Amino acid sequence: MSSSAPALKLLDLIQSHRVTAVIYVAARLGIADLLSDKPKSLDELAKETGADRAALARLLAALVTTGICTRAEGERYALGETGTALIGDAHPSFKAWAILEGELLSKTWSGMLETIMTGKTAAQLQGFDNSFDLMARAPETVRVFNAAMAELTAFVTADVLAAYDFSRISHLLDVGGGSGELIGAVIKRYGHIRGTVFDLPRCEEAATAHLAKLGVSDRAGFIAGDFFRSVPASIDSIILKSIIHDWNDELSCTILQNCRRAMPEAGTLLLVERLMPAMPGPDNEHKSHALSDLNMLRGPGGMERTEAQYRDLLGSAGFRMSSIAPAGRFNVIEARPV
Ligand SMILES: C[S@@+](CC[C@H](N)C(=O)[O-])C[C@H]1O[C@@H](n2cnc3c(N)ncnc32)[C@H](O)[C@@H]1O
Repeated sequence: MSSSAPALKLLDLIQSHRVTAVIYVAARLGIADLLSDKPKSLDELAKETGADRAALARLLAALVTTGICTRAEGERYALGETGTALIGDAHPSFKAWAILEGELLSKTWSGMLETIMTGKTAAQLQGFDNSFDLMARAPETVRVFNAAMAELTAFVTADVLAAYDFSRISHLLDVGGGSGELIGAVIKRYGHIRGTVFDLPRCEEAATAHLAKLGVSDRAGFIAGDFFRSVPASIDSIILKSIIHDWNDELSCTILQNCRRAMPEAGTLLLVERLMPAMPGPDNEHKSHALSDLNMLRGPGGMERTEAQYRDLLGSAGFRMSSIAPAGRFNVIEARPV
């Protein structure tokens, strides 16, 4: 190996935000959607996107280097294997996530130095306690965030359904359930389960529409509220996906205690979360968890936790961890009231 290889590896890492920007522009222009049926020429793509022809050719060259596009016969561009997940209505799709990352997270992350120096979130540095309150000031930001979350959850759902047997559950309350992506998938798979999404009022419209689209509105509904104040009474089980990682230990404990108060002694609590490795190493999955941890530090002020940290946190809120089932890069952590 050349002695300059480690330095080149570093340079590629340093410049990796450029790839995010290229994918973001492709997502915004809908390049993958335009190529979903058939390969197209540069002229066709320039006309359909309204982009500058010469500049678009250069973007497409970068997309070819990432595998998102390929060159097809007759000077046309086709969708590469990686690019299929950039089609908006594909399953899985990360188009909304590309927009969240390129439009919002990249800007938030540019201030990471301030967060590392102060331990404060981007919102706190702007005088807000809660990043979700700050987000609410821009409805388009809420829409972009919720769409990206729904996409990521849709991606994870198959793994969650394969990892955990929900058959003993009769009613599932999804605390912080957003647009109803997870609850919709669970009750669609299990015909006897009734479901409720509990979230801030601003999620009601998207969740209600999603449940109606799945044809499960007769078994699932939405309740608006604030999980720091209380959680609606659950007759059975509560699930929280990507909620506890948003908050520090004190606020997480408040949410979990509210869940504990809302559920029966024989109830089940399920957390769907990443597990931070106790000793992170140079591994792609570890990197994804560590970067998500920093995203929580800079964003809402939470953290990715290790198994031991989840066990302690659950214990401090009146639960005992009973099992962990890996579900892709996530895990279904089951806990019971003590
Ligand atoms: C990271 S998203 C997770 C959404 C969903 N569970 C998923 O994984 O797709 C966090 C969710 O918490 C909700 N949330 C934030 N603060 C809340 C509060 N005080 N009460 C209820 N829900 C809240 C947000 O609206 C958002 O839907």
